[in-house]
Amino acid sequence: MAGSGCTQTCLIYPSLFLILVFSFVNPHFHFFPFPYKSNDCNNDLYNATRNSATHNMPPMQVRKNVNQFEKMEDGLARARAAIREAARSRSYTSYKKEAFVPRGSVYINPYSFHQSHIEMEKRFRIWTYKEGEPPLFQEGPMNDIYSIEGQFMDELSGESPFSAKDPDEALAFFLPVSVVNIVRYVYRPYTTYSRVRLQNVIEDFIGIVSKRYPYWKRSNGADHFLVSCHDWAPDISAGHPELFKNFIRVLCNANSSEGFWPVRDVSLPEINIPFGDLGPPLLTHPPRNRSIFAFFAGGDHGNVRKLLFRHWKNKDKEIQVYDYLPKTLNYTQLMAQSKFCLCPSGWEVASPRVVEAIYAGCVPVIISDSYVLPFSDVLDWSKFSVHVPVARIRELKAILQTVSVHEYLRKQKRVVQVQRHFVLNRPAKPFDLLHMVMHSVWLRRLNVRLLR
Ligand SMILES: *[C@@H]1O[C@H](CO)[C@@H](O)[C@H](O)[C@H]1NC(C)=O
Ligand SMILES: *[C@@H]1O[C@H](CO)[C@@H](O)[C@H](O)[C@H]1NC(C)=O
Ligand SMILES: *[C@@H]1O[C@H](CO)[C@@H](O)[C@H](O)[C@H]1NC(C)=O
Ligand SMILES: *[C@@H]1O[C@H](CO)[C@@H](O)[C@H](O)[C@H]1NC(C)=O
Repeated sequence: MAGSGCTQTCLIYPSLFLILVFSFVNPHFHFFPFPYKSNDCNNDLYNATRNSATHNMPPMQVRKNVNQFEKMEDGLARARAAIREAARSRSYTSYKKEAFVPRGSVYINPYSFHQSHIEMEKRFRIWTYKEGEPPLFQEGPMNDIYSIEGQFMDELSGESPFSAKDPDEALAFFLPVSVVNIVRYVYRPYTTYSRVRLQNVIEDFIGIVSKRYPYWKRSNGADHFLVSCHDWAPDISAGHPELFKNFIRVLCNANSSEGFWPVRDVSLPEINIPFGDLGPPLLTHPPRNRSIFAFFAGGDHGNVRKLLFRHWKNKDKEIQVYDYLPKTLNYTQLMAQSKFCLCPSGWEVASPRVVEAIYAGCVPVIISDSYVLPFSDVLDWSKFSVHVPVARIRELKAILQTVSVHEYLRKQKRVVQVQRHFVLNRPAKPFDLLHMVMHSVWLRRLNVRLLR
């Protein structure tokens, strides 16, 4: 079985981050036996990419740069020490002037977060594999609700300070695979929803890069990641769980009841990007002047929404729950006029409403179970949102009414404070959404030590 020779020791790592697993990944293990399944492909494009990607590729001679490897692991050790020290001394050390200093209760630990961000800027370099061709590889959607997948890939393929020039200087390896495009091009017209084709494309890609380069084998995939917002993305690993045991999956569909493991995986914010834009506008409607107590508009998708509609649609003037909004009303403006914005799970746990609420300065009400919220290693969501378990939907109004005016105003102010972490900039900027995603991956990498 793949990875069976890899011995892993887990220790508690005394960082103030919530991820506490420090894994030593032993490089001496067996090569993955890659089955090149060919019985499930009956699609032209699918065949074409598989063939082009696997065509006569000799293993590449990669410089075994022992010094570089040791230098990088040493750098990570220094980063860990600096983060611990920052948390202890409640200060930071930086080689440059810091334009933004995180402070306040929205952060679980603002000092360790800040130092970690400084260390990331200094050391974190990501190598994007160049194998594979569009549309399944190297590009993803740039608009609509899954667009964060394409935006992230596009950012790293550009002039990002995090892009490694050479794989030997990389601390992490990005698989530029677009799950959205696989579903779009390999599955349409839909004759099956079986995830086997999706799994094959990704397993084949891993097979190729682990044959050509030493990096996957070196870490057993622990410094490799993939970014996807598609509902199906968690299923990539279901066909061959052993192969993905250490692999970092960056997912919008972060359902901890379905195998999302916050220590290894990263929760990705879902953001709806209209054409010609980078997201909804940031609005600053004064909190005292918000005339709608609670607001929701959206489709009847999944069980949580069904419950919400059953209990709250047309039931109470203060809880405005619409399925589809009348054309005369403006969704964005309604959010900006609301005190609380309801963010129930739909077909899957994540919803673009969480980011939309934050942009609108509206306190998000997370109505879901098992949803691991984005950036929750760093951000204390309880300080700027309200959580309502699905089983308590009927008590929704009573729960929101227990939030005092004073507490509401504090939460609302903090929503405005965290906006910067959810803003999409291209190119990305320090502490914005894309850098926060990089930081989430960096934290997972920081918790792994590779041994030679
Ligand atoms: C794809 O490849 C498989 C096996 O390699 C073959 O049986 C199938 O006919 C091919 N499909 C198309 C559309 O070419
Ligand atoms: C309060 O809201 C109303 C209507 O939404 C608007 O006309 C008014 O200008 C707002 N006041 C402030 C201070 O924003
Ligand atoms: C809705 O309101 C927002 C914010 O004021 C504005 O940017 C947007 O263009 C409006 N949308 C429509 C369809 O009028
Ligand atoms: C999360 O996973 C559980 C277990 O599979 C499932 O019952 C639940 O519906 C999922 N949540 C959503 C919103 O899909």
